[in-house]
Amino acid sequence: MRPRPALPLRTIARRCDLPITDTFMHRLIDEATIQNRVKELGRELSELYADRPLTVVGVLTGSVLFLADLVRAIDVPHRVGVVQASSYRGRTTRPSELTVDMNLLPDVRGRDVLIVDDIFDTGNTLQRLVESLVHCEPQSIRTAVLLIKDGRCEVEMAPDFHCFRIPDVFVIGYGLDYNDDYRHLPWIGALDEADL
Ligand code: IMP
Ligand code: MG
Repeated sequence: MRPRPALPLRTIARRCDLPITDTFMHRLIDEATIQNRVKELGRELSELYADRPLTVVGVLTGSVLFLADLVRAIDVPHRVGVVQASSYRGRTTRPSELTVDMNLLPDVRGRDVLIVDDIFDTGNTLQRLVESLVHCEPQSIRTAVLLIKDGRCEVEMAPDFHCFRIPDVFVIGYGLDYNDDYRHLPWIGALDEADL
């Protein structure tokens, strides 16, 4: 690994008027590792849901890259839908206050639902999504996340499936954003706390 510069990488990039690209980030999980693991999870899910009426439900926006790769790795017929989970950080609401928009979700009554999200951090988002989807009367609900962040969980539940466990660092790429940037990166990078 390159020696780390004394100044936060973001500060250096800003001062030099350089785009903040992969040069300025510590790569936590590379593209090949992600792709291999997602394919492996796809195979596991294909066995589990063979001959089942599966609907894979991605959580916008963070899950889009994971969702697209995962559904292509599930080689049994299934439907794909999306929901949106947004947290409001306005003055009158707590940061954790969440709204779930299910207007784009196809009918999942009597079907097996697999909720797919980018990261399980405190777990509040996923827990809230499961609670919301119960009202749609699916046959079953399971959850799959790309990442679990260690030592952050605030809820009783744990995801049924995950690809990687990561330490408590802020990550970007492969769907995950910092202020809506970096989602398109095919790998996962860690941003330094000092850079945020
Ligand atoms: P939770 O409700 O605390 O589990 O947070 C889940 C949501 O927070 C994720 O779907 C992400 O949108 C966001 N999030 C949590 N940690 C990170 C991170 O390290 N990078 C980018 N987004 C994150
Ligand atoms: Mg998210």
